[in-house]
Amino acid sequence: SFLDVEEDPVTVLVTGAAGQIGYALVPMIARGEMLGTNQPVILHLLDIEPAAEALNAVKMELIDSAFPLLKGVVATTNVVEACTDVDIAIMVGGFPRKDGMERKDVMSKNVSIYKAQAAALEQHASSNCKVLLVANPANTNALILKEFAPSIPEDNITCLTRLDHNRALGQISERLNVHVNDVKNVIIWGNHSSTQYPDVNHATVSTDKGTKSVRELVNNDQWLNTEFVTTVQQRGAAIIKSRKSSSAFSAASSACDHIRDWVLGTPKGTWVSMGVYSDGSYGVQPGLIYSFPVTCEKGEWSIVQGLKIDEFSRAKMDATAEELIEEKALAYSCLN
Ligand code: NAD
Ligand code: LMR
Repeated sequence: SFLDVEEDPVTVLVTGAAGQIGYALVPMIARGEMLGTNQPVILHLLDIEPAAEALNAVKMELIDSAFPLLKGVVATTNVVEACTDVDIAIMVGGFPRKDGMERKDVMSKNVSIYKAQAAALEQHASSNCKVLLVANPANTNALILKEFAPSIPEDNITCLTRLDHNRALGQISERLNVHVNDVKNVIIWGNHSSTQYPDVNHATVSTDKGTKSVRELVNNDQWLNTEFVTTVQQRGAAIIKSRKSSSAFSAASSACDHIRDWVLGTPKGTWVSMGVYSDGSYGVQPGLIYSFPVTCEKGEWSIVQGLKIDEFSRAKMDATAEELIEEKALAYSCLN
């Protein structure tokens, strides 16, 4: 596998590479923030015809940056060329949500894109290609991609909720005035949407006096069960409102975190949140792409098992599953 031989470059596809996340993401990958600072990479950049010139400018800037790890760049509007021999595919291309738009409005524009790109990946990417769906609706786009690329192992198709996970860590860090790196094991359950459930019931903070639970340190269940939850749920919308466009470098940085931990492994005792194909764990309907707490080892994720779920959490986990079931139905109705 590509993990064994560090000298062999890994080929990474970024779709929507001329867009704002793409512009932040490609230099991060080329610097080794996704696969490590010893791992050479070849970048395949895909965008559509109207963005072809801007895409070429991204390629020019990559060349101009003289990145030591970057062994090649293909910038193209041809989906087959973009997908050929790809080891890792970061799917960012699509139509982003604008201020005032609901995520469902962007659904029909995006599911048809992902149906087509699934076929190209299936036929031309490496057989063990790992896929990260970033474009919204991220979970449902991943599901569509999975269904139309049946020969790609289902465990290889994931979506990004690491940004939400990192946002939750950030909120706890700000509240407790501790470093974000000392906070761990928050969970994002469900959809990358405003129904997601950021759960701190198992989260901890490392302190001088040992490991403490976040609930104990915050000592304010009211805040944790209301304002904290809605702040994380609404953070994407808050960024859109302030920036007039959706989050970009934080999404790019979280995408690097997602792939790095998946490929290189999660640190001992730490889990992260990833949108993955549900096997029915925690009573989540099998066949949804749902965000779970996962640990990763040797390029494989596994859902953290045996966490105690209280009634409050159960209701929130079910509500976001319900939304994903509706999105799935809506996606299929858009395809017909
Ligand atoms: P953007 O509009 O700046 O860039 C999107 C790019 O995709 C554009 O360059 C566009 O030309 C290209 N594109 C459109 N159709 C394409 C196709 N068929 N094939 C290839 N490329 C195509 O948007 P952005 O701000 O970079 O956001 C990208 C996506 O990521 C959006 O869907 C946004 O909602 C989503 N997003 C997800 C998260 C997350 O955490 N999961 C966070 C932020 C944004
Ligand atoms: C985000 O989380 O920043 C993006 O997914 C924007 C959105 O559409 O909510």
